[in-house]
Amino acid sequence: MTGFAADWLARREVYDARARSRALATALAKALPANPRLIDLGAGAGSLMRWLAPILARRQRWTLLDDDPALLGVAIERSAGWALKQGWAVKPIGKGAISIAAPAGAIEVHTLRRGLTAKLPLAGQDAVLCSALMDLAGQAWCRRFVASVAKAGLPALLCLTVDGRLAWRPPHRADRLVDDAFHRHMTRDKGLGPALGPDAAQALGALFADAGYKIRMGKSDWRIPRNDAAMLADMIGGHAGAAEEAWPAGAPTIARWAARRRAQALGRRLTLMVGHLDLLALPPAGR
Ligand SMILES: C[S@@+](CC[C@H](N)C(=O)[O-])C[C@H]1O[C@@H](n2cnc3c(N)ncnc32)[C@H](O)[C@@H]1O
Repeated sequence: MTGFAADWLARREVYDARARSRALATALAKALPANPRLIDLGAGAGSLMRWLAPILARRQRWTLLDDDPALLGVAIERSAGWALKQGWAVKPIGKGAISIAAPAGAIEVHTLRRGLTAKLPLAGQDAVLCSALMDLAGQAWCRRFVASVAKAGLPALLCLTVDGRLAWRPPHRADRLVDDAFHRHMTRDKGLGPALGPDAAQALGALFADAGYKIRMGKSDWRIPRNDAAMLADMIGGHAGAAEEAWPAGAPTIARWAARRRAQALGRRLTLMVGHLDLLALPPAGR
C-alpha cells in the first residue's frame, strides 16, 4: 500500500476538478460506445469518476482499482454522498459496489483491490483511465502499461500528470533549489520502478504514438489562490519535506524558504501554480 491520505485527496479534489481538461474528456466521450465499461487505475477516493461520469452522460460501469482498501471504501462513501447530494438514488449492488440512478443513465461503481504490478484486468473494458498516477510510475512499467492497453485496443485518458512547471508568486530566490530537490524526490521508486515524475506525460505520449495511437495533450494546471491558506500550507509542507529528503545538506535553506512561504500564505500574499498535463490516447482506427 502506498499511503495517500483520504483527507489530502479530498482537499485536492476541488483543484483537480477545476484543472482537468474538459476538451479531452469530451473527445473521449465521443469515442466511447453506448454503455461503456471504464477502469480507473489508482483510483484512490474516486474523484475522477465524480468528475467524468456526468460528462460521459450515459449508462456506464466503472471499476475503481487501487491497492488501498481503505481508500476504496472512502471512494464508495464519497460517491454515494455526491450522488445523493444531487438527488440521485443510490443502491448497493454487492460488496464494495453501488449503482447510482443518474438521469442520463445508471452509473455502476465497482471497487477492485489490486496492485498495479499485477496483470491489468483490461478484458471487457472500453477505456483505461487514471488521474494523478502516472508521475509515480517508471519507464519499464509505462512501457508494459502501454503495450497492454494497445494490445487490448483501448483508448486511454491519463489525467493530471505533474509536468514540472511550478510558479510560486511572488518568487523567492531559493525557489529553484527547493523545486529541483522536490523534483528529484519525485523520481524515487514508489513501487512501480524509479518514477518518471515530471517526464511521465511526455514519455507516455511517445510510447502511445509509437504504438500507432493518436495523442492529444491538454494542460490541467492547479491554480491555488491566495485565500486558500490551508492548501498552500499543505503544499509548502509537502514540498519542503520532500526537498529535504532529497537534499539533506539544503535543510537550512529549505527551512528558511518554508518559513517565508508560510508567512506569505498566512498573510494571503502567496499564490501557486502546479503544472499538470492530461493525455488522451486514441487507438488507430479499425481496432
Ligand atoms: C495521488 S493518488 C491519486 C488518487 C486518485 N486517482 C485521484 O486522482 O484522486 C495515487 C493513487 O494511486 C494508488 N497507487 C499507487 N501505487 C499503486 C500500486 N502500485 N498499485 C495500486 N494502486 C496504487 C494509491 O493508493 C493512490 O490511491
